[in-house]
Amino acid sequence: MSAAKPDLVALRDLKVAFDGVQVLHGIDLNVAKGEALGLVGESGCGKSVTWLAALGLLPGKAAVTGSVRVDGRELCGARRAALEEVRGGRIAMIFQDPSSSLNPVLRIGRQIVEALYIHRGLRGDAARVEALRLMDMVGIPDAARRFDLYPHEFSGGQCQRLMIAMALAGQPDLLIADEPTTALDATIQAQILDLLNTLRAETGMALVFISHDLGAVSQVCERVCVMYAGRIVEEGSVAQLFSEPRHPYTRGLFDAIPRIDGPRDRLIPIPGTVPNPKHLPAGCSFSPRCPRAVDACGSDYPHLEPQGDGRRLACTRPVPVVTRGDAERRIPEGLMS
Ligand SMILES: Nc1ncnc2c1ncn2[C@@H]1O[C@H](COP(=O)(O)OP(=O)(O)OP(=O)(O)O)[C@@H](O)[C@H]1O
Ligand SMILES: [Mg+2]
Repeated sequence: MSAAKPDLVALRDLKVAFDGVQVLHGIDLNVAKGEALGLVGESGCGKSVTWLAALGLLPGKAAVTGSVRVDGRELCGARRAALEEVRGGRIAMIFQDPSSSLNPVLRIGRQIVEALYIHRGLRGDAARVEALRLMDMVGIPDAARRFDLYPHEFSGGQCQRLMIAMALAGQPDLLIADEPTTALDATIQAQILDLLNTLRAETGMALVFISHDLGAVSQVCERVCVMYAGRIVEEGSVAQLFSEPRHPYTRGLFDAIPRIDGPRDRLIPIPGTVPNPKHLPAGCSFSPRCPRAVDACGSDYPHLEPQGDGRRLACTRPVPVVTRGDAERRIPEGLMS
């Protein structure tokens, strides 16, 4: 799917286990230079762990295997120095937990200047000028005056912007934004999404956008990966997955979100809960919750296979292709060609 652009990151058979419990079951995923990829799925499906593992940021008790290549260079099992060169430099991550990113007892300007020194060797006036430019770029008003303030003197949305500024300090080729807007109100969320789009257009960086919010994903991403219980179950373009979700789980995610442009249908939550990684069901992990499951789904594990239309799908009983009329109702405004 990303054949047109060269791959920046390639994950192959990436597996993670904590204390002998497997939580990631072999992720194969490419991110092309400059593209925006969304990663969605219910809580606990492995979205954060995928990228924390890729960047070597999981605690020592995590057993990580597989391959993580950045521009062809293997990172899995690489030495610390090689990982540190990539982290923050080639790839920056905005963490799901904001408190882990901004230091509450350091003035904001100093934090950005420090990141500029680590990643680009900038010091003194040059670092200050660049820090102010970054604060300005992410839309912090009156940056010069606010340079010496502490994180608690900024609003939640502004802290999010400052975290993006810190992430941009290393001029990354890829920004991984883990739930960057979840804690924000709708207006600020829309502003952050706009900001991410603008920054991508200005810098040409690629983006991995991790979110529960399919609407947000459709506003910033070109391609979406849907994860369930530590595996990718469907991957395709945003337009493809919105118009024709084929995996019953993807379909379920769409049925569970309100649509402002569609008829006032009842929302249908996916019945049941995400399985505990310790006790995964046999066969397809989604089969106990799947409305289309047959007996065989409980015994055979479906592999993620490329489909004729360019998507990848792990399901032996996919949702039948919908008619054009239904498809049009599902595609959010702006994605219709
Ligand atoms: N440090 C850890 N130690 C043990 N288990 C962990 C650790 N971090 C994550 N896990 C487990 O790994 C699985 C995947 O977690 P992950 O954080 O990737 O989920 P997620 O998809 O990001 O969910 P959310 O949407 O809630 O952020 C979960 O079962 C979680 O309990
Ligand atoms: Mg997470």
